[in-house]
Amino acid sequence: MEDFRPRSLDEIVGQPTAVARLRRLAVGVRSGRIVPPALLLHGPPGIGKTTAARAFAREVLGEQYENSFTELKAFDDRSPQRMAAIILGSRQPPTRRALLRILFFAEVEALSAESQNALRPAIEGDGGYSVFLLACNDLSGLSKALRSRCTGLEFLPLSAEEMCTLVRRALAITPFHLDDAEVGSIVQRAGGIPREAIKLLREEGGAGGTSAPSAPPQ
Ligand SMILES: Nc1ncnc2c1ncn2[C@@H]1O[C@H](COP(=O)(O)OP(=O)(O)OP(=O)(O)O)[C@@H](O)[C@H]1O
Ligand SMILES: [Mg+2]
Repeated sequence: MEDFRPRSLDEIVGQPTAVARLRRLAVGVRSGRIVPPALLLHGPPGIGKTTAARAFAREVLGEQYENSFTELKAFDDRSPQRMAAIILGSRQPPTRRALLRILFFAEVEALSAESQNALRPAIEGDGGYSVFLLACNDLSGLSKALRSRCTGLEFLPLSAEEMCTLVRRALAITPFHLDDAEVGSIVQRAGGIPREAIKLLREEGGAGGTSAPSAPPQ
């Protein structure tokens, strides 16, 4: 699955509003003009929130991405104690020559109320060294207090045309050959959700589609 994930904001298909906003923020941060507010990326599963968060972080941090970007998923330890330690760390100056740290909390609706509370003061940003990115599927799973402290970025299902582009790009890195009707069928069934399209593509390629002939022996 990871092979299909765009690495830069430029490679992201669709999401013009969210991507333009992230690009502007990245430029602002890089030029030292702004420390952005906490961002809340929201939209259905598989729509591209994690992809966008990582691409934004790469754009901001460049070579420092590996040591200054932290991602905490639902299955990581996000107990209130661990959250407190992470938040304490976020107030320390960033390592090496990084501009700042970026902390990305995926699936925030899965955080306990206590852990959501622990985040509140941190994301209020005391002009600190960290940018907080949060992602969720369902805004109603988030405390109002947390929501009101974040700038929302909505991720919407892609249009059929955008999905077509996404499927063709993904296809180009596989050995599969699907005809227009097969691509159209994937687009139609994926309902504007990139992860769904990639999943169907892998299924189709493995089942109905024809593989490219393998290279002749040397
Ligand atoms: N806009 C996009 N352009 C190209 N590929 C995309 C885009 N959005 C998502 N993808 C593809 O779909 C996959 C799933 O996206 P991603 O993991 O970012 O979804 P998510 O919104 O974080 O989902 P979840 O809510 O389950 O965490 C990615 O690995 C990538 O291959
Ligand atoms: Mg995600």
